[in-house]
Amino acid sequence: MPKSSTRAPSPYPVDEWAIVENTFQPEHTRRSETIFALGNGYFGTRGTFEEGLHGATSPGLEGTYINGFYESETIRYPEVAYGFPDKSQTMLNVINGKVIRLFVSDEEFNLLTGTILEYRRTLNLRAGRLDRNVTWRSPAGREVNINTTRLVSFDQPHLMAISMTVTPFNFSDKIRLIAALDGDVTNVTTANDPRSGSNLQGRVVLIQDRFAEGTGGALVSRNKHNGFGLACAMETRFYGPRQTEVSCATDEFSASVTYSFGSGEDQWGPGKEISVQIEKFVSYVTSLDTPDADILARAREIVTAAKASRFPAIETAQRHYVAAFWERADVQIKGDPALQQGIRFNMFHLLQSVGKDGRTNISAKGLTGEGYEGHYFWDTETYVLPFFLFNSPDISRKLLEYRYGILDRARARAREMSHPRGALFPWRTINGDECSTYYPAGTAQYHIDADIALAIKRYVEATGDRQFLIDYGAEMLFETARLWASLGSFIPHKGNQFCINAVTGPDEYTAVVNNNCYTNLMAQTNLRYAVEVAGWLRTEQPQAYEKLIAAIDLNVDELAFWTRAADAMYLPRDEERGIYLQDDAFLDRAPWDFANTPPENYPLLTHYHPLVIYRHQVCKQADLVLALLLLSQRFTRDEKRRNYDFYEPLTTHDSSLSMCIFSII
Ligand code: BGC
Repeated sequence: MPKSSTRAPSPYPVDEWAIVENTFQPEHTRRSETIFALGNGYFGTRGTFEEGLHGATSPGLEGTYINGFYESETIRYPEVAYGFPDKSQTMLNVINGKVIRLFVSDEEFNLLTGTILEYRRTLNLRAGRLDRNVTWRSPAGREVNINTTRLVSFDQPHLMAISMTVTPFNFSDKIRLIAALDGDVTNVTTANDPRSGSNLQGRVVLIQDRFAEGTGGALVSRNKHNGFGLACAMETRFYGPRQTEVSCATDEFSASVTYSFGSGEDQWGPGKEISVQIEKFVSYVTSLDTPDADILARAREIVTAAKASRFPAIETAQRHYVAAFWERADVQIKGDPALQQGIRFNMFHLLQSVGKDGRTNISAKGLTGEGYEGHYFWDTETYVLPFFLFNSPDISRKLLEYRYGILDRARARAREMSHPRGALFPWRTINGDECSTYYPAGTAQYHIDADIALAIKRYVEATGDRQFLIDYGAEMLFETARLWASLGSFIPHKGNQFCINAVTGPDEYTAVVNNNCYTNLMAQTNLRYAVEVAGWLRTEQPQAYEKLIAAIDLNVDELAFWTRAADAMYLPRDEERGIYLQDDAFLDRAPWDFANTPPENYPLLTHYHPLVIYRHQVCKQADLVLALLLLSQRFTRDEKRRNYDFYEPLTTHDSSLSMCIFSII
């Protein structure tokens, strides 16, 4: 198996507080755009260049995404079955607000032409800012330095600010800067790799209104199918010679403001270091967070105020926000600067990606690209929420509030899946409805209910916030417990133990199995905690208890059943090897022929039909081993070792959720 125990060298020089790129590498454009992406949880934008990359084919992928802002289309299945989701949800690539084009005389600045004399791009983790410094010689020999700073504001979630300073070195011709909003946008479609795109074809962000006036402008769009509205506004400010001309324009997809900075020996020219500068303030407001009729006015208000407060003030506020985060969250690793850089980079991206308003969540790829269509998974509760528990517990709470917000939809889904009581949270979603079209690695992952329940438990244990249980938590715990009660059965053939059949555990290379051990262990924890919380609520908050059980029609027999089911939970084991089995039939499958699987066939999911994978003993990711971590106290050290030793050689780590868990264990 192509596993490497050594760390791949970082392509960026090591700086404990920054990611620095010292050369422009067109062949790695998309990777860099993701790494240098900025966001604040409300929206995010890829680390593309203000001026774009114009060539025969552009190596980059322009993208700006608003968390939870999606388009839905009717899903057309060639072979549909009952209960399959009928609507897609795709996080949209929205209006690009970053555009600033630069012309030196009649030559347009573009890193794919001319000569790059100096290049440095820095993601400054302490300042929460992306800086770029380039010295460029145009094809006709004009030399110019371009310095940009970009930030997506943490304390003003709708705002992005960019500053661009241009210093001409060896010419005295005119300089033109065009600040624009570009609404000519579509999403990526990906036929062969479900991880990196969607099926959303063509234009769905329809520009309905546009204007440019004075030093600003705006575009208003409406989504083709679900009609969500978006307003994107900009304002600009310049610093330059007096004879600067300002003009504005709109066309079908854009609004722009053009600054023509005068020329002449009295200004710049060889030997004089005179600069021109523009600051651009951009806002995004949608009908999901603001009444539809007000989105444009609100978007304009934000940029007008930002322009008045000026760029340095916004930069300072950003620095303070990020400093406060590091104050609470920083993890220091002595003696390994690359690891130090890596951990800070990851933490910063978590902060940039996570929804903080209780209405949105964190998508699998954050707000850096279109992978997994911006969907929220169990990744949230299992991998992200615990990180925030000890540095930003309010964010953890907001993530759980999001789940509470979709509880009614989860109840409806449970009914659709033939459970008369309880709630089944969606495997992947934005708006709360299940939108996984592949149920073996989607809806069948019922464990998400227990993952959410465990996150509630951990949140309450870490914070002591029992009010959360009263307002939201208890109801979610009871409804998820009900789901397990309805899903499982006492099976005589298994000695009347409580079995949960036809589910998929975290490992997506083994699907629709009986008694996935992880699921059963987590369901047991969910059931027990629901009973414990019910007891606490009844004694300590009798009024709240009565109100809740009346609202959801919960009776004491149900509580007794939960205890019985938890006590009798069946956990598949192999006594001879002293291990837990990932599921009932795990040992009945043939071993995977790792020795004859060439390295280029990984990840297996893009090279083998799912059935080929399902009939073998091969795991994509941590499954039972994850239970060893999440329910650590249940297992002895010896048990952990035996199980780790058994599963590790069978695991390809084809999911990035895997290696980290094995490493911790
Ligand atoms: C993993 C899932 C995960 C999803 C989104 C898949 O490849 O197998 O466990 O939830 O990616 O990150």
